[in-house]
Amino acid sequence: MILCANFKANKTRQETRAYMAVVESFVSVNEIDETVIVFPPFTALEHISRNVLIGVQNAYPAQNGAYTGEITLEQLEEFGIKTILIGHSERRHVLGETQEQIAAKFRFFADNGFAIIYCVGEPLEVREQGDEALMRYVDAQFQGIDCEYSDLIIAYEPVWAIGTGLTPTNDQIVAMHTALRAKTHAPLLYGGSVKVDNAQAIMALENVDGVLVGSASLSANDFCEMIAQAAELKQ
Ligand code: 13P
Repeated sequence: MILCANFKANKTRQETRAYMAVVESFVSVNEIDETVIVFPPFTALEHISRNVLIGVQNAYPAQNGAYTGEITLEQLEEFGIKTILIGHSERRHVLGETQEQIAAKFRFFADNGFAIIYCVGEPLEVREQGDEALMRYVDAQFQGIDCEYSDLIIAYEPVWAIGTGLTPTNDQIVAMHTALRAKTHAPLLYGGSVKVDNAQAIMALENVDGVLVGSASLSANDFCEMIAQAAELKQ
C-alpha cells in the first residue's frame, strides 16, 4: 500500500519536524514496508528522507528563472526532492491551473525523473450528471498525460469529498478505480475525507492501492494508525 499525507498549507517547520520524528519512528519500530510519503509545505522541506519519502505539493516546470513566487527544479534538487503532486483539485479549482499547464508540468517533471502523484476527480455537479459525464470529465483530466510513465501514481479525489467528510460509496470508488485501471498500470490511490474510521475499508477495496490523506493526516498518531491498518491488511 501507498499512504500519502498532504499537509496543504498547514504546519510550521517545527511542527513538521516533530511530526516526522513520530512517523519515522513508527515506521521503523514496526518494520513497516508500506510506501509512506509526506507532502509538507515548502517552508518545512529539509534534507530528511529516511524511511519516509518527502514530496512537494507543487512546483513550477523550469530549472530556475523569473517566476515570482514559485519554486523550481533547482530549489528541489537542493533538498533531494524527487516526488511531486500534480493536478491536485485545489491547484485546479482554487489556483486556476488549466489542463494545459498541468500537462506541461507533468512533462517537465517526468523528463526530470520525478515520481509523480497525479490527481484527478470530479466536482459534484458532474457526478450528478451520471456515469457518462463523469467519465468524460475524468478522461479530459488525462489530456497531455502519459499514463504509462514509469514512476506514476494516480490519485482519484472527488472534489466534493475533499475536506467535507463526504465520501463516495465503496461501489462508486471501485467503479472509478476499475475504469482507471483500464487506462494505466500505475498504482491507484483514493483521496477525499479518508480518516482512521474509513481508511482500512477503503484500502481493502479492489483496485485501491493506497490513500492520499489531507486533514486526517495532520495528526501523526492518526496517520500512523492508518499505516498500521494498511500493514494489517496484508496479514
Ligand atoms: P481531506 O482528506 O482533508 O479530505 O483532503 C484530501 C486531499 O485533498 C488530499 O490531497
